[in-house]
Amino acid sequence: MDAKPIIAPSILAADFSRLADEVAAIELAADWVHVDVMDNHFVPNLTIGLPVVQSLRKATSMPFDVHLMITDPERWAPGYAEAGAYNVTFHAEACENPVALAKTLRAAGSKAGLAIDRDTPVEPYLELLPYIDTLLIMTIKAGFGGQAFMPEMLDKVRDVRRRIQAKNLEVRLEVDGGIAADTIVQAAEAGADAFVAGTAVYGAADPAEAVRRLRALAAEASPSHD
Ligand code: DX5
Ligand code: ZN
Repeated sequence: MDAKPIIAPSILAADFSRLADEVAAIELAADWVHVDVMDNHFVPNLTIGLPVVQSLRKATSMPFDVHLMITDPERWAPGYAEAGAYNVTFHAEACENPVALAKTLRAAGSKAGLAIDRDTPVEPYLELLPYIDTLLIMTIKAGFGGQAFMPEMLDKVRDVRRRIQAKNLEVRLEVDGGIAADTIVQAAEAGADAFVAGTAVYGAADPAEAVRRLRALAAEASPSHD
């Protein structure tokens, strides 16, 4: 594994009335901004949608890592790519034909990500790795920030990392849910190389410093470190 770790603070834990400032607070320290879109159907919670992403896009130059926790991603996901998202991730559980949607997203100008929720095995999706750019393993049940990290999800991370290495693929392996100073080490050791953190960043007194600390821990724990 040679890719440097990506740290993606989730604005779900930020102050929604000051989103541009909250992104600016981590701009120099982080790699991507993680944007959790929830539709009150795929998950019970409801957050933000395309108009907010379009407005925020104008307020920062940071790459957007959009995580769509929505039903019918075929209908909505391309709009986020067109709005300038760097990576658009949709859920395997919500999509009939992930390869087709990944292709559509790439044609619309973004990277394509596939997310695997807590109760979904990863095995049936390993074959799809050559067609996507990001594989997001949920380390909680999707829907709410501030939940406890589930170490038993790391077997999925190990399985995906093995397949990426065996086939020499260029896929980012991202984890999302309960990532903090202690759990990021376990996730990096298992082979993750992109880390979403909401509470651990925006709940900290100094969000940029929290990002730098997470990055140092991930880099130190990554199997490629020597
Ligand atoms: C939850 C979201 C996460 C959330 C993580 O479904 O996908 O991105 O913001 O929040 P923490 O880091 O607090 O677990
Ligand atoms: Zn997320």
